Amino acid sequence: MSAAAVITGLGAALPPDRITNEQLVREGLDTSDAWIRSRTGIRSRYRVRPGTTTGDLAVAAARGALESAGAYDAGLVILATTTPDRRCPATAPELAARLGMTGTPAFDLAAVCSGFVYAAAVASAILMAGAYDSVLLVAAETYSTIVDPCDRETAVIFGDGAGAVYLTRGNRRDPGALVHFDLGSDGTGSDLITIPAGGSGRPYADVLPPRQDRYFRMRGREVYGRAVRQMAASSRTVLDLAGWSTDSVAAFVAHQANQRILDSVADRLGIAADRCHGNLRDVGNTAAASLPLALADTAARDAVPPGARTLLTAFGGGLTWGSVAMTWPRAKPVRHAPEPRPTHKETDSCPPSTTTS
Ligand code: UT7
Repeated sequence: MSAAAVITGLGAALPPDRITNEQLVREGLDTSDAWIRSRTGIRSRYRVRPGTTTGDLAVAAARGALESAGAYDAGLVILATTTPDRRCPATAPELAARLGMTGTPAFDLAAVCSGFVYAAAVASAILMAGAYDSVLLVAAETYSTIVDPCDRETAVIFGDGAGAVYLTRGNRRDPGALVHFDLGSDGTGSDLITIPAGGSGRPYADVLPPRQDRYFRMRGREVYGRAVRQMAASSRTVLDLAGWSTDSVAAFVAHQANQRILDSVADRLGIAADRCHGNLRDVGNTAAASLPLALADTAARDAVPPGARTLLTAFGGGLTWGSVAMTWPRAKPVRHAPEPRPTHKETDSCPPSTTTS
C-alpha cells in the first residue's frame, strides 16, 4: 500500500465581528448589498479588531487542529500567509512557541490564495521523505489589515480567518489522504495581485506619501478570467495524475474567491452544484485560509462521507495555482475564537486618515 500524508485533524478560527454588506455601505464604501450579492455571492466577512493579529487567528485554528487530531505537538509547523504579523521575522516560530513547541522547526510560506495547497504539497513531501512524523499546517490571514477600505473591488470580497490541518504519514486508503498535487506559477502576472510598496523593490521610505501603494491591489477583471481557466486546467491535471474521472469526484472545494468564478470552474469540469462545498457566502475570500476554512465548515456539517474522493483547487497572487486530489478526512473540526493581544494599532477607515506613518 503506497504511503501518503493524511489529514487527521481540522481546526478553524474566525474573529468575533461579522461584517455584513450593509455594514460596509454604512462605513462609507461606494457599493450596495445587491451588487455584492449578485457579483460575488458574498453576504458577510469577518474582521479582526485592532490588536488581533494573523498569529492570534493562527494559534486558535492550530489549537483546534491539534485537539481534533488528539495531538499535543507536531514535528514541523508551517504557516501559509500573506499577512504575517511582521515583515521580519516569520510568524510561524512565534506561533509554534505560543503552542508550547519552542525548538520545533517552523516557517512561513507565501503563495497568496494558493498558500494552503502549496504548503500541503511541501508538508506532504517532507512527511514522505521521513524527515518528520507530523506537520501542523496553518493558513491564516488578516486581509482587513492590508485592504484599502475605500477600494470597492477588494474591500467587498476579502475577509479574515484561519484554518489548520494536522498531517501524519499514513497510506492512500486512509480517509484524509493527500494523493496527488499539481502546482504552478506565472510571474509575468505578478502585478495583477500585489502590494506595490514595502518590499525591496519599493521600500516604504521611498513612497511616503502617498500611502495608497501600501495597500493590497487586485486587477479583478483580469484575474477573474485567469482564475477560471487555471483552476479548471489544474483540476484536470491533478485528476489525470490520480487517474480519477470528474464523475468519481464526490466533493469539490475551490478557493473561495467569488461565487461566479466557482460556478464557472465547476461548470467547465462538469461537476454539479450538489458536489461543490464551501462557505464563501458567510466568510468571503480569506486568501490562504479559504480552503481549510471550507474543509472545516463542510466537515462540521457532515456533508461528505470520510474517504470520498475530493478535489481542491486554488488560484491567487504570484500568479500561483495548485490542486490536490485527496480523500475526505474523518477528523471532526474544532473551532476556537482568537484571543487578542493588546497593541496600539488602529485599523484604517474609509476615507483613510491623512497620517503617513
Ligand atoms: O483570491 C485571489 C483571486 N481573486 C479572484 O479570483 C477575484 C477575481 N475578481 C473578481 O472577483 C471580480 O472581478 C470583482 C468582484 C473584483 C469585480 O467584479 P466584476 O464583475 O469583475 O466587476 P467589474 O470589475 O467588471 O466592474 C463592473 C462594474 C464597474 O462599473 P462600470 O464601469 O460598468 O460602470 C465597476 O466600477 O461594477 C463596478 N463595481 C462595483 N459596483 C458596486 C466594481 N466593484 C463594485 C462594488 N460595488 N463593490
